[in-house]
Parts: sequence; C-alpha cells; structure tokens
Amino acid sequence: MNTVELIRKKRENFSLSEEEFRWMISGYVQGVIPDYQMSSFLMACYFRGMSEEETLTFTRLMLHSGEVIDLSEIPGMKVDKHSTGGVGDKVSLILAPIVAACGVPVPMISGRGLGHTGGTLDKLESIPGFRTNLSITEYKKVIKAIGLVMIGQTAEIAPADKKMYALRDVTATVECIPLIAGSIMSKKLAEGIDALVLDVKTGRGAFMQTYESSLELAQTLIRVGNGFGKETVAFITDMSQPLGIAIGNWLEVVESVECLCGLRGNSDHSSDLMEVTSVLAGAMLMLGKRAKTIDEGIALAKQSIKDGSAYRKFLDLVRTQGGDVSALENLERYPLSKHSIEIKASEDGYIAEIDSLELGLTGIELGAGRARIDDVIDPKAGIVLKKKVGDAVETNDTVAIFYTDKETALHAAKERIAKAFRIQSVPLKKKPMIVSYIDKSGVREWKK
Ligand code: URA
Repeated sequence: MNTVELIRKKRENFSLSEEEFRWMISGYVQGVIPDYQMSSFLMACYFRGMSEEETLTFTRLMLHSGEVIDLSEIPGMKVDKHSTGGVGDKVSLILAPIVAACGVPVPMISGRGLGHTGGTLDKLESIPGFRTNLSITEYKKVIKAIGLVMIGQTAEIAPADKKMYALRDVTATVECIPLIAGSIMSKKLAEGIDALVLDVKTGRGAFMQTYESSLELAQTLIRVGNGFGKETVAFITDMSQPLGIAIGNWLEVVESVECLCGLRGNSDHSSDLMEVTSVLAGAMLMLGKRAKTIDEGIALAKQSIKDGSAYRKFLDLVRTQGGDVSALENLERYPLSKHSIEIKASEDGYIAEIDSLELGLTGIELGAGRARIDDVIDPKAGIVLKKKVGDAVETNDTVAIFYTDKETALHAAKERIAKAFRIQSVPLKKKPMIVSYIDKSGVREWKK
C-alpha cells in the first residue's frame, strides 16, 4: 500500500477498506507515517467525510490500537456518560457519584480542558492530592472497591487517538463528525462499559454550535455505540449560557460539593446544572437496569442527594484516589486568589444573554485553562456568576465575580466579562435545558 495513494483516494471521495485504514492508523502510531501525511489525510477526511461502515471500521481500529479493558468480573451493567463539553460543565463530578451510589458501577475516563471548555481531570486535580493518573490495574481495583473510578486516558488506551487528536487540534481537523466519533467512542469503548449516555451540547458555548450539527453528531455516536453492542442514548442540552454558576476548576468543585450536599441546585442558579445531571443520571440508571424508566431513575438520583449517599460516594472516590477529603469538608480553608473583582450591571433590565464562549476564553486568561498544552493551571482562578439569563437587574448590581492571581489580566477581564452580559429592557422566557432525547428508535422532544 502507498500512503500518498490512500490520501489521494480519500481526497477523491472513494471509500477506504479496513486494510487501508489499518495501514494509515498503525503506520501513524508506529511513526512510519509522518505528521504531514497524516494531516493531509485528516483534511481529506474532513472534506469528504466517511460512510457509516468506514466510521465503524475507523473506530474499531482506533479502539484496538490499545488495550480494551475487561470489567466483566464486576457484576452488573457498567455505564458511563460522555459530554461534548461546555463552559461550567461540572456534571460528571456530581453525576458519577449519584449513579454509583444508586448501585450502577461507573468507570469514567475523562479529558483535560479543551479550548474554552474545562476538563473533568483538571477539576478533580484541583482537590489536593487527587490522582487521575492511575494505571489500568489500579483503575480496576478502584471500581471493584467502590463502584466508581475517574481517571485520564493512559498510554495504553486508544494511543492512536491520543496522537491523532493532538495533530487534529493544530491542523483545523477537529470539527469532523466521523473523526470525532472515532475519537470519542474509541476511548469510551476501551473503558469496559456496557452502555453509554451522551450529553451533546448545543449553543454558543458548545463545540457544536447549531442544533442540526449537534443532532448529527449525537446520531453518529449512537450508531457507533450500538454498532459495538453497547446501548447508547443521547440528550441534546443547551449551552447558550454557562452551566450553573462556577467557571474554573476549584470553583466548580465547590459548586459540585454544594449540589451533592443538596445545598444548591433546587431553585437557584445551579438548577440548570442539576436538571441536566438528574436527567442524565435517570438515563444511566435505566440503562444500568436499576430503573425501568428515565423518570424512575431521576427519582432515585434525587433520593441519593437527599439521603447523603451521593456525597458519601464522592468522598469515597476522593479518598480512594489519594485526595484530601478535609479540603472538601472545610471549603473555606482553600487558598484565595490575590484578586477578586466584581462586575456590575451597566443598566436596568433583564439578562438576555451570557456569552459562554467569551467567559470560557476569559477564564483561560485568568489562569483557569490552558492557551498552550504546557500551560500550568491555577485551580483557584475563574468566574462565579451572580446573575443568569432571565434575571432582573438594576444598574450596579453585581452580575459576576472573577478570581485571579494575574495582575496583568485584570483590565481585559473586567471589560470582557462585562461585555459578555447582554441586558435588555423586556423580560424573556427561559429556554428549555434539555432539548431532545435520542435513542435507536429516533429523536424525541424532551418534555419535563
Ligand atoms: N473530544 C474528543 O475526545 N475527541 C474529539 O475528536 C472531539 C472532542
């Protein structure tokens, strides 16, 4: 086989066979195919796409480029969730302990912050001592012991994706549905799951900004998951404003702990976060055979917050993975940022829009995310929203507070955060958080 010929074949919109994909993927992993040829191939895939069969083949080869973890010795259905990521999306931190506390094992391999969206690993690592770099042996031990484990992608898991994703990130080839499907599903299928719930975000803060593209991605991911014999369902959820109140790693842990303790998330600014979390938990419990319906699962999830079992499960997770539980029990002891600055409303009216993309990008400048892969994150940095879409405000009301140690970031952050809030004079109706539910039988509008 000839690499140039295969690039040309994809460029001319012909389908590739399994052997041809194998040549490209294993050649790249082994270093025989250089970055410049793989970049060109990925760009051809970006423009030409892949058939359904090619997408499945591509995913299978990405999956088998590394180890596929076997959790069959752990009884019951193992269920995970994947989110396409959004600003303030700390759902995994709350959801995984809820589902595990209700008796469904959750093996979760998560990622780091990507562009303007945060990553679960960075959030967990803001808890002093928390280890996300467990070996596969440790991963199995933890899930066996407590029914829950949360780690990062190891060198053994989908190594082809690890290398290819880094290249896609710098060659403008991320936004391609078959490549995304292969990338996400190879990692998820390697975890040892039996079923998967997807949270595909839509809106300005999301990776897929239109409903149509989010739906296409959801349907492709569902076809791939079901094609591998893992029941897969998806929700499309709104990301037109940040989820909950906190953006930034430790700030998001604090909000998650407060939600797990039932102190917020009922009828306050974290309600949107808890609405998404409960629905995803309901679906995970249904797929995990603990509930007959999503609604029954939602009721179990709510009960686990009320009776404290979800929070206790989170403490178990932190303790088992080396974290300092006392930091969670004494949130006020965590170091404070040098600067905390309030942003005020410039006029009377109603919050019509909060630009989550802009807040996510500003968060990076404050130290909460990475502009470059080797940037060091400041876990304390970030933004807390005091007002959300639909709220009435008067001039000089505080709409947000931001935290940073970076003196040089203060001026720009003040301007950018203030501009991210658009105020209008007439009240507005809130958008639904859960837009639709998709499973193998089709797409349904989600009704509360
Ligand atoms: N997240 C992934 O893991 N892979 C993609 O391709 C896009 C988002």
